[in-house]
Amino acid sequence: MFYEPLKKNHGLSKNPFNSLVVPRPIGWISSIDKEGIVNLAPYSFFNAVCYRPPTVMFASGPGSGSDGMKDSISNIESTGEFVCNLATWETREQMNQTSASVSSGTDEMELTGLTPLKSNLVKVPRVAETPVNLECRYLKSIRVPSWEEKDRYFIVLGEVIGIHIRDEYITEDGLVDIGKINPIGRMGYNDYTSVNSSTIFTMERPD
Ligand SMILES: Cc1cc2nc3c(=O)[nH]c(=O)nc-3n(C[C@H](O)[C@H](O)[C@H](O)COP(=O)(O)O)c2cc1C
Repeated sequence: MFYEPLKKNHGLSKNPFNSLVVPRPIGWISSIDKEGIVNLAPYSFFNAVCYRPPTVMFASGPGSGSDGMKDSISNIESTGEFVCNLATWETREQMNQTSASVSSGTDEMELTGLTPLKSNLVKVPRVAETPVNLECRYLKSIRVPSWEEKDRYFIVLGEVIGIHIRDEYITEDGLVDIGKINPIGRMGYNDYTSVNSSTIFTMERPD
């Protein structure tokens, strides 16, 4: 089949686009508002974009805030900081719960029974239950061109200024045992996948 997204002529029961670019890592973004109330939400339009400096992005669609944005982006733009927590198999239920729309004055770590841990370089707490946390300094937001105003998305870029990896996940060879950490990824629809020792394979790059 071939279809053109603008013509919405795929003829399928659901839009297939995000079932095709998979699996997507999940940035489980913590942020705080000016009063210090903690917000936590998953974003699967998320990725690392470069090494030096290590930089991440996530893209946020419209939200129910008074500015028409989601709380994560409003908080990050006003405080200049956020943390990406790695969503894992162990934390999958809490990750999903934090995607619920709750009022902006609600502490979403408290609501989901997660433990806030003090970060080293930013005021935003990190999630204790995940073994990897990236402390980020906000760089900029970029508006993605959209067909209609109601579909507006913003890409948020952040420099990773501090990285926590729980020691038990570092091997004797000095590698990160990502299979043991067991991160989850987003597929299309309501499907997910997980990374573990049985799904990892290795290939040497050609010269
Ligand atoms: C696995 C998963 C991935 C998601 N990815 C995105 C995303 O990339 N962009 C987005 O705008 N919303 C995404 N959402 C929805 C947001 O998490 C949801 O709108 C959330 O309430 C936003 O919270 P906030 O307003 O506190 O930032 C995702 C939800 C789930 C469960």
